[in-house]
Amino acid sequence: MHIGPIPLANRLFAAPMAGVTDRPFRQLCRALGAGYAVSEMVTSRKDLWNSLKTSRRANHEGEPGPIAVQIAGTDAPMMAEAALYNVERGAQIIDINMGCPAKKVCNKWAGSALMQNEALAVEIAAAVVNACAPRGVPVTLKMRTGWSQEHKNAVALARQFEAVGIQMLTVHGRTREQGYRGMAEYDTIAAVKQAVRVPVVANGDITSPEKARDVLAATGADAIMVGRAAQGRPWIFREIGHFLATGEHLPPPRVAEVRALLLEHLQDHYSLYGAYTGVRTARKHIAWYVRALPGGEALRQHINTLETCDAQWQAVAHYLDALGDQMERLPAATGTTEPLQDETEEPSA
Ligand SMILES: Cc1cc2nc3c(=O)[nH]c(=O)nc-3n(C[C@H](O)[C@H](O)[C@H](O)COP(=O)(O)O)c2cc1C
Repeated sequence: MHIGPIPLANRLFAAPMAGVTDRPFRQLCRALGAGYAVSEMVTSRKDLWNSLKTSRRANHEGEPGPIAVQIAGTDAPMMAEAALYNVERGAQIIDINMGCPAKKVCNKWAGSALMQNEALAVEIAAAVVNACAPRGVPVTLKMRTGWSQEHKNAVALARQFEAVGIQMLTVHGRTREQGYRGMAEYDTIAAVKQAVRVPVVANGDITSPEKARDVLAATGADAIMVGRAAQGRPWIFREIGHFLATGEHLPPPRVAEVRALLLEHLQDHYSLYGAYTGVRTARKHIAWYVRALPGGEALRQHINTLETCDAQWQAVAHYLDALGDQMERLPAATGTTEPLQDETEEPSA
């Protein structure tokens, strides 16, 4: 599959998750079978571009291509400028966020709130496409099924986005009003796929290889995107890929492999964020990795009391050494995700 002229390794995508899909995590997902990983969103507000948060988000050092940067905002010229700013810093694909209830940008709600104002949504898409086209950079867009149950306008919008030159559409099978409540539905994604010729990506509640197969079949989508189920389980992409190719399940990963990749993930994480922020922001990743494992809750609580990277790293290493003495492989995954935290807590920078 391709995004515009850019070929992708496969049709398994890691979802952009602000505060989660930073470079270390994206690289891990890619190494473990994701063909594509979109970076966290970058605000269109120029005054925040030099903030530490934005510059960390715009750090793509050593990342395998294609480098896709998501932008969020409510003003078409500002969004066009933000797109070019990121292209100049290495973005090969620009993704517009109309899928996430992003915080207020310039006193207006960005992200999925834009689906309520179709004219503005299309104006933004057109402005970003027009800015990126001379550089040969394809523009993609992520949205929900609509504003509310009564206003599911994903199909109408998809047609208009395609008409102004958007080259791939990702649809999360919930309305904005739903937040993360209820289950994702795939009929609207199937209808979007029928309505446009550009590739369509199905997203929402894909937590197992079987679910991936079923969503691909139900929607006819060109690719699937996995978000929460990859938290603490980045090897889910390899598991889905193997199942789609063979109809068989891979065994769960060896504890020794998880030990190696989690400890390396932590090192990468500390290098990106520095010791103070790194030790704190790594806690949630560690908790996700161990949440379903014996002694995982005790480790999580212990980790929360540790203030240095070294102590945290050693605690994780000891925990996984002890686990490796008990079992060769992780227990089989359950295929569920935890109820979601509200992503609106994520800052817009
Ligand atoms: C913590 C968190 C942060 C998110 N941040 C973004 C974001 O920055 N941009 C975006 O388009 N979607 C964002 N999302 C939405 C996901 O990309 C995805 O659409 C959603 O989680 C549904 O997929 P899932 O059921 O596989 O998790 C976020 C989701 C979570 C859980």
